[in-house]
Amino acid sequence: MRKPFVAGNWKMNTDSHSSVELAQAVANSASGLAGDKVNVALIPPFVYLQSVVKAVKSTGVSVGAQDLYFEAKGAFTGEISPAMLKDIGCNYVLCGHSERRHVIGESDELVGKKVTAAIGGGLLPILCVGELLAERDGGQTEAVVARQLKAGLAGLSADKMSAVTIAYEPVWAIGTGRTATPQQAQEVHVFIRRFLAGMFNEKLAAEIRIQYGGSANAGNAKDLMAQADVDGLLVGGASLKAEDFVKIIQAAA
Ligand code: 13P
Repeated sequence: MRKPFVAGNWKMNTDSHSSVELAQAVANSASGLAGDKVNVALIPPFVYLQSVVKAVKSTGVSVGAQDLYFEAKGAFTGEISPAMLKDIGCNYVLCGHSERRHVIGESDELVGKKVTAAIGGGLLPILCVGELLAERDGGQTEAVVARQLKAGLAGLSADKMSAVTIAYEPVWAIGTGRTATPQQAQEVHVFIRRFLAGMFNEKLAAEIRIQYGGSANAGNAKDLMAQADVDGLLVGGASLKAEDFVKIIQAAA
């Protein structure tokens, strides 16, 4: 049985006060569910990680970072290492979010190095994959997702894969209010599972959790989660309001 996993990616939002307030509000309402029935992670901007870790301590809610760098330390101005994230109590880390791929320009290969480094540093990477609208319209969804999975997981042996969550986030659904239909999500999730069975093995493919992300909200969470291969949600905008995010957690649990 795959335990549902809901994560809130706050992106470049909140401030020192509102980040703590939001984290506390989520932790208060989700206690009793978080950790037990459903894994919950909050993914704030780097600068608020420590205060959010403190705010959710002993509540069953985990904390993740939005990115990391693959080197351990040294002259990499502006970057954050896996050990630094681990050091402050971070458990999860997003790798290859579409905004990093398409706005910042990260390559598939760089994302793969980050996933490997995250696991090496004792973190749990959430590898994000997903196609652009033109790629979907051009019938390339599976090819794009396959390419991103192949490169993103290239450095890993099957025994390391239990640390990994995959997030399918079609780029055309992110922040657009245009959610993939539950069927569209399910189709790609099945493809991802089949691909992982081929790349690694059947057991691993059956056990790995695949989140859906892209305009997930309190209204559509239940229908998305009802799909057999949708194991959780990676939520952007709707994770910035505690009330909405808690409804999503409840729908997943
Ligand atoms: P939205 O939920 O705002 O569409 O963002 C999804 C996302 O990118 C989560 O990582």
